[in-house]
Amino acid sequence: MSTWTAIAHPGLEASVAAELQELGFATEVHPGWVRFQGEPVAVCSALPMMRTPDRVLLQVVEGKFQGSDGLASLVRAQRWKELLAPESTVEIAILGHGDGVRFKDSVQKRVSYAIAEALKGPRIPERYGRPRLAQRVSVRVDGNTATISLDAVGELMHRRGWRIDISKAPLRENLAAAMLRLSGWTPDQPLLDPFCGSGTLPIEAALWAAGRSPFDKPQFASAEWPLLRGKSPVRPKTQKFSTRIYGSDRDLKVLQAAQRNAARAGVTPAFAVTEIGDLQPPASSGFLVTNPPWGHRLNDGDGGGSGGGKVIPATLIFNRFGVVLQERFKGWKIVFLAPEQELARKVSPRVRGIATFPNGGVRITAWGLDLSGQ
Ligand SMILES: C[S@@+](CC[C@H](N)C(=O)[O-])C[C@H]1O[C@@H](n2cnc3c(N)ncnc32)[C@H](O)[C@@H]1O
Repeated sequence: MSTWTAIAHPGLEASVAAELQELGFATEVHPGWVRFQGEPVAVCSALPMMRTPDRVLLQVVEGKFQGSDGLASLVRAQRWKELLAPESTVEIAILGHGDGVRFKDSVQKRVSYAIAEALKGPRIPERYGRPRLAQRVSVRVDGNTATISLDAVGELMHRRGWRIDISKAPLRENLAAAMLRLSGWTPDQPLLDPFCGSGTLPIEAALWAAGRSPFDKPQFASAEWPLLRGKSPVRPKTQKFSTRIYGSDRDLKVLQAAQRNAARAGVTPAFAVTEIGDLQPPASSGFLVTNPPWGHRLNDGDGGGSGGGKVIPATLIFNRFGVVLQERFKGWKIVFLAPEQELARKVSPRVRGIATFPNGGVRITAWGLDLSGQ
């Protein structure tokens, strides 16, 4: 059994932990990350189904930080030949606080050389130089503790591959997946996003309902790890639902972008051009999960297309959205994003904050409104 770290958006750790538990891993939640335990083959086979983390790291070692010499010895003593192929190129990320971070460049160099040494033999001929980029090793120094980890994916995990066409203020794909979880939505329920922009929420939901990986062509760093060679993957069990997923927006151009993204992802949410005031529920109950226009990036009133119509202030849109919900969406559960309570309360005085997290440099809250009992 190995120890792993899933890096989470601060505020969304519980969603990441819930997903990992569903995949069968025991978790421990920390601010900004979730520690979990699992066999390398089981975790790496489950990576394509992990929708909410930013990164997933295999912990190589945790030890006392004793300056860059001590760190180099700690690095050299690890089982790098099991973890990295001899031809691997390595990128070192130095994170955390304290001395290890203050002298980042020299620590980075020492760690790269120590890994190259452990992989190639006791001497480093000059021609090896500094290893080039490919496998990402992170060294986190927090006070007296150094943690060295290997990134199982290599890239930030919101980069799914299918979202090439974007509108203004798109939601990161893994945040969309976390929002779906926060809302309590399960893939057997209808889902609607009436401000869907480039379609992130409906596409993530449709992939989830189809029991499919959110990644277009998963190519993860762990595929190169020697310790997985010859091991058959243990695919996590998935379920498929033929739920209807709906996305609408007032802007035809952004909906066309959403259609292209969905086609690349291989899913078919039902998209329609709809001004929020004209929105009708597509079913008698379900989940409405959305990111309405609220930010300064949307001050021109639309999502980036040219067919967005005239500028409407966010307060007015939130008011209208609230009226539509109260009048037509009895039986539904609503979750939407807004930075301030004042704006959220334009939708209803009964909204409650579910989680707050950073998004595009702003702290934003997911607000819940339960109309299902009405
Ligand atoms: C924050 S963006 C949504 C981004 C989306 N979550 C994504 O990931 O691409 C808000 C969207 O609301 C749409 N919008 C603005 N005013 C609207 C209105 N009155 N009725 C319906 N949609 C509107 C904009 O066109 C924009 O695409």
